[in-house]
Amino acid sequence: MSLLLAIESSCDEMAMAVLKDQREFLSSVVASQIDIHAMYGGVVPEIASRKHVECVSLVLKETLQQAHVTMEQIDAICVTKGPGLVGSLHIGLQVAKTLALAFDKPLIGVHHIAGHIYANNYEKDIVYPALCLVVSGGHTELVYMKSPFSFEVIGETLDDAVGEAYDKVGRVLGLPYPGGPIIDQLAFQGKPQYTLPKPLDDDSYNFSFSGLKSAVINLAHNMTQRHEEMNHENLAYSFQNVVVDVLVNKTIKAAKEYHVKEIMLAGGASANKGLRQKIKEEVDKMPGVILSLPPMSCCTDNAMMIALAGKVMYDHHLFSDLSLGIKPHLDLELESIEEE
Ligand code: KG4
Ligand code: ZN
Repeated sequence: MSLLLAIESSCDEMAMAVLKDQREFLSSVVASQIDIHAMYGGVVPEIASRKHVECVSLVLKETLQQAHVTMEQIDAICVTKGPGLVGSLHIGLQVAKTLALAFDKPLIGVHHIAGHIYANNYEKDIVYPALCLVVSGGHTELVYMKSPFSFEVIGETLDDAVGEAYDKVGRVLGLPYPGGPIIDQLAFQGKPQYTLPKPLDDDSYNFSFSGLKSAVINLAHNMTQRHEEMNHENLAYSFQNVVVDVLVNKTIKAAKEYHVKEIMLAGGASANKGLRQKIKEEVDKMPGVILSLPPMSCCTDNAMMIALAGKVMYDHHLFSDLSLGIKPHLDLELESIEEE
């Protein structure tokens, strides 16, 4: 029996959750700042950390109240140590260290992307070897996992992350931040009209989305100059089509090469309906391969995912002491646990 408190504050969400044993969540609270950052068209780091300071004690109080537990009953505190925004990470980590000191609890520093990946442990245990396509606002990576908590990044974006590209295209279309979920919706109402370049359609497992983003910006610019009206639904359709195609093609190719038993999606953009639909179609053609899609509540930043990754670390006694510092650029592969 274990009770873990998890804290996630790497970007513009202050989130906490209490996890009992393997996967029973007693509470999960997410204080989002999306409305505030939407006014600026993206996350403003200084504002994010100030808002975290303002709400952190209330989020903690609500998380414990919802779970009907006290700090004394908690067995360990899991916290995102990186990667992420410096100021934002600091708030979560300082709160975690203060609680660890005051209540004499072990501390577990969790990699944010390990958290996104372990959102796939929400309903059932991941089956290894596994492959995870991580698509978030700051990351786009193909991660091969031969065993639990072993991470090999076999491909990554050379420039923009998927979520970032969605948000930038959203800005061109005049959509509020974050553009990702809205473009996803618009895409389902659109049809083929615009031809966009395929992003890095090569034999590697790397991705590149800045050329595609520039193509959309140029298209919008040229149409404005010609006083033509852009069809937002049709542009969203074409954009989503090329993005989803390249993501799914490379994931399936890697899954075959690495003979994985499970394919997973992770990160904020794994909420994308087009991506979920297309990967399901492809994995359905691969007998014996399991597809894992995290529940929607576990796709964008939350603390349940940090608790799920933290639980694996807790079971392996991977604790940190109070010298734990934030790591804004943390290498996922270095977090791997060697096989016993
Ligand atoms: O994982 P996340 O919450 O934060 C980071 O760790 O970056 O991801 C946020 C990103 C944003 O860029 C947002 O536009 C994108 O995830 N996103 C989506 C969708 N829902 C969220 N992108 C495409 N389609 C969606 N449905
Ligand atoms: Zn994230």
